Amino acid sequence: MRFTSFLLNAALAAAAALPSIDIDIAKRQAPGAPTKLLVGVPNSVLLVDFDGISFNIVANATEAGTNPSWLAFREPNLLYAVDEFNAVTKLFVLGRDSNTLQPVQNAAGSAGVVHLEFNLDKTRLVGTSFGAGTIDIWDITDGTLRLLKQIASDDPLGPNANRQEAPHPHQSVLDPSGRFFVVNDLGTDTLLVIDSQNDQFEVVNRVRVAPDGCGPRHGAFFPRGAQAATHYILLCELLNIVEVFQVTYVENSIQFVPTQVLSSFGQDLPPANATTSTAGEIIVSSDNRDVYVSNRNTGNQTDTITHFRVNVPTVEGGPISLDFSESISSGGTVPRMFSLSGDENLLFSTNQNDGFGLIALARNGNNLAVQGAGDVAASADFNAAVEAAGTLVSSPVAALGVDAFGGPNAGPQFAMQI
Ligand SMILES: *[C@@H]1O[C@H](CO)[C@@H](O)[C@H](O)[C@H]1NC(C)=O
Ligand SMILES: *[C@@H]1O[C@H](CO)[C@@H](O)[C@H](O)[C@H]1NC(C)=O
Ligand SMILES: *[C@@H]1O[C@H](CO)[C@@H](O)[C@H](O)[C@H]1NC(C)=O
Repeated sequence: MRFTSFLLNAALAAAAALPSIDIDIAKRQAPGAPTKLLVGVPNSVLLVDFDGISFNIVANATEAGTNPSWLAFREPNLLYAVDEFNAVTKLFVLGRDSNTLQPVQNAAGSAGVVHLEFNLDKTRLVGTSFGAGTIDIWDITDGTLRLLKQIASDDPLGPNANRQEAPHPHQSVLDPSGRFFVVNDLGTDTLLVIDSQNDQFEVVNRVRVAPDGCGPRHGAFFPRGAQAATHYILLCELLNIVEVFQVTYVENSIQFVPTQVLSSFGQDLPPANATTSTAGEIIVSSDNRDVYVSNRNTGNQTDTITHFRVNVPTVEGGPISLDFSESISSGGTVPRMFSLSGDENLLFSTNQNDGFGLIALARNGNNLAVQGAGDVAASADFNAAVEAAGTLVSSPVAALGVDAFGGPNAGPQFAMQI
């Protein structure tokens, strides 16, 4: 079935330079209940409606000279935004039904913050400043941002003189126990473990990541939905590698032992330009079977999202391992961030520079193996479904070109269903 909506035609026009994008809708999802996405583009925070078929921008909070490249949402109506271009973190009140975004606070903090992470009950917010090399700890108990503490990331720099000229904390990740935040520092090839107990927010461990020059960017604890992690899966931006660590909780800290390193591109799919390539985002599915990674600036016509499957440990207490499954086009260039829909049947990706700025990709057979195990085990259909589970469908379910946003090089940098 060919997609003919006005919006997609606009997207097609925007993507005219990208003939490799297959726009036939091979497997459209049954439209679910309408939902909303938060989208960050240079100068603007947007609310975007998604009805299962098309995207529609319904609110636009614009302030020239700002860059809300990461957003965090506290139910029912508080939206926190970084401003990568200024020394503030922002609070908006979001009207879900009225489609409004009201700016209510510009809180002075570090310049160049690129990521925000809540604690478990969303009373604390951790901002990582790529620009200033610092970590801001906010008290947001009553919603308002109050700066509790700033931590300087000051480990020795990595060897990449162009990109590791200073500490660059890129993300903090809350561990499933809710006690520790791990900060990935791209500039120092280091994971900083921060203990949040009793609001101390002290650095209790510094893990130097090999190989040198790796450039830790984003990571995820594994498994999801547990009380404690057994693994941490790290994406290194500069060397474009995925690194698996086994983690152990010790008295007041977490220890990391590397167990696997693999290419973010997958086997036999080298980037056209290894020098410019910079890995972007990493996500673990909530069923703990799949890991997805984005590759940016590959020099190929479009960039990619790579899917790895998680192999359970072969011995009790042993390490998981990842296997490359498939790689598909991100539908444009520079997929800085992507996220899974609430039901995890879709992957929403951004493309910052060209092509589809916002794209919904179907994720096959989410949980199908588990649901079907009782009745049709061993049937050919069942085996095919198991084989397909977690794979991404390259024809998009819906897409909007970068021209619907800020145009080339000013497309979305963040997209998340709320
Ligand atoms: C990217 O380009 C390289 C070199 O031309 C090629 O080998 C590789 O298969 C391409 N990757 C994808 C995902 O098409
Ligand atoms: C990779 O990109 C760099 C920077 O744009 C350029 O100088 C170099 O020639 C490119 N290499 C290839 C193989 O295209
Ligand atoms: C948001 O509003 C600003 C100011 O009116 C406008 O320049 C920009 O194009 C709008 N962005 C989108 C995506 O609608």
